[in-house]
Amino acid sequence: MAPTRSFDPRDPEFRTDPHRFFARLRREDPLHWNPHLKAYALTRHRDVFQVLRHPHFLATPMRANTATLLRRSGRSLPTLDRLIEAAVLFDSTPGHREARRMLVATLNMRPLGEYAPLMADVTDRLIDALRGRPSFDAVSDFADPLPVHVIHRVLGIPEELFDTLRAATWGLDGLFNYVKAIRELVAWDAQCRTGFAVIDDLVRQRRAAPREDGITRMIALAAQDGIDHERLVARIFFLIMVASDTTSATIGNAIALALATPGIVDAITDPATTAAAVEELLRLEGTALFAARYADRDTELAGLAVPEGTVAYCYLAAANRDPEAYPDPDRFVAGRGGPPHFAFGDGIHACIGASFARLEARIALHAFFTRLGPLRRVEAGTSWLPLDAFRHLARLPVAVD
Ligand code: HEM
Repeated sequence: MAPTRSFDPRDPEFRTDPHRFFARLRREDPLHWNPHLKAYALTRHRDVFQVLRHPHFLATPMRANTATLLRRSGRSLPTLDRLIEAAVLFDSTPGHREARRMLVATLNMRPLGEYAPLMADVTDRLIDALRGRPSFDAVSDFADPLPVHVIHRVLGIPEELFDTLRAATWGLDGLFNYVKAIRELVAWDAQCRTGFAVIDDLVRQRRAAPREDGITRMIALAAQDGIDHERLVARIFFLIMVASDTTSATIGNAIALALATPGIVDAITDPATTAAAVEELLRLEGTALFAARYADRDTELAGLAVPEGTVAYCYLAAANRDPEAYPDPDRFVAGRGGPPHFAFGDGIHACIGASFARLEARIALHAFFTRLGPLRRVEAGTSWLPLDAFRHLARLPVAVD
């Protein structure tokens, strides 16, 4: 069925293939007022660029909404409060720059290339466990654990805590989830509490006996910036969260597209084109659907005067397939050129982990397709998670030929 001009972001059809909806919106209604979002939905590359760079479109509505809901409920959910406070993504206060700088300095504790052996080791271990199996789930057996193990090891989290922490930090999408029932927030608070306790304990251990790891690095940076223990724990939690789900989803989406489209596996496995192939996969099927912004005063949105408080969803995934920016946009063309894509956002909140994630995806995808032999996607079992802000496969069954 042809998609309507409007869309319900929770409609399963939209979740399975939003690109069909975006194509029509870009053509017919690029400044689309969406009744479900109660916000504008922008789908053109140039409009998304303008808003993400706009000094009066700020990134706080999700955070403000969850916080308001918590306040109204009269419940005290202190762990969730701390997580929301640590989520720099939604912070447009002057504190944003300081928090961002600290996270960047954490990742920069080593030159990027020095992370490659660790990423390759994590990748190889997961692939070793898959070799010899006639079939597996590329999501739960590979794409999901890989970035989680990488960021845990970068931070110095002991392996026996990986599963507990993964269960506690899963759910970045929840921070973007505009409407949440209080009971869901209560459950989420409890989930986070387990993770906060684990990290709290590790921070205390590293204070007593520093090591060469990310947690020790963050302790030193927090001391420099006057960040107290509670906020430090929340920042470490947030860093794990934001580095895990995003990269997992990106690797899963890339595998799915590569198995469905001739030419992509060859481009990934040729070391001369791996980087260009990953870049094109990020453009075509990066995980982040949108970045939301609100106007902090009366201003202008894609040529239209809009009042203070107007919310705009910048659909990154739609702008990345705008034919004005990328001719024949649905086609995979490694090294195609054109303007930078928005898989990692843009403007003052642009992803701090972009280079890290790119390297990780290159290593993971290259090894996956070279070491596991000819693979085939088993269409029947493939499904998407019902998320609001991300495209993330739930399952991707793969058969080894
Ligand atoms: C392929 C994987 C990844 C994707 C697709 C991705 C995507 C994004 C996007 C779209 C944004 C901007 C959101 C907005 O403007 O509202 C963002 C921000 C951010 N990302 Fe990533 N990300 C990835 C991996 C990572 C990794 C590995 C890290 C850390 C190690 C990371 C840390 C962050 C942080 C801290 C921000 C917030 C920056 C700020 O608000 O100033 N991301 N990411």
